[in-house]
Amino acid sequence: MSHRAPIITIDGPSGAGKSTLGRMLARALNLLYIDTGAMYRAVALAVLRAGVNINDRQAVAEIARRARIELAGDPNDVRVTLDGEDISQEIRSEQVSHLASIISAIPEVRREMVRRQREMGARGGVVLDGRDTGTVVFPNADLKFFLTATPEERAQRRYEEERARMQDRAFDDVLREINLRDERDSTRDDSPLRIAEDAVVIDTTELSIEEAFQRMMEVARARGLTEAR
Ligand code: DC
Repeated sequence: MSHRAPIITIDGPSGAGKSTLGRMLARALNLLYIDTGAMYRAVALAVLRAGVNINDRQAVAEIARRARIELAGDPNDVRVTLDGEDISQEIRSEQVSHLASIISAIPEVRREMVRRQREMGARGGVVLDGRDTGTVVFPNADLKFFLTATPEERAQRRYEEERARMQDRAFDDVLREINLRDERDSTRDDSPLRIAEDAVVIDTTELSIEEAFQRMMEVARARGLTEAR
């Protein structure tokens, strides 16, 4: 392992538990948590607000380059701001989720986000959660996880999260949307979701959050990544 502080990546489809487990891992190992999906969501919201046509790739790319996106707060309370405004709640809507999956396929948008993510993690001491963090953003990461679960289980988790936020939708709609997003995220030409060769794959379908977390910690410990910094 290199001498800089560690870089841990967590990739996988939506609803696999990446953000919950990423935050838990960051807290336990005293690392900074970087939610890369939130960055694509922030760009999607900026595009929505600017009212530009999402087929106008140049205009969307320009918005991505101009957007001032900040991820602040500790792992227990991550805040996302766009040009200084707190958009943490707004970027979780179904509309933004849908749009983020579309604009994240644009190579110029990806190039800009990847450049920023590398800058944020350059000195190490980070846990990144996304779709390409171990394959593209930090191929030399110290530890890579790929989290997955069956589509039905992932849809069930989303469904429960949305109900908790009083956004009541039929389960079948949630499942359909998850499948659509997975398909789009996995089949795009630029940086599709895929498992890095050296990733530790964990299927969380039958695991509780605590069980999944313990497995990740065991792997981290085995790689010497436990000392509090
Ligand atoms: O993880 P999430 O659901 O917040 O991500 C939102 C969208 O952004 C998702 O459709 C995939 C895309 N994304 C990506 O293309 N690359 C990443 N590193 C993270 C997210």
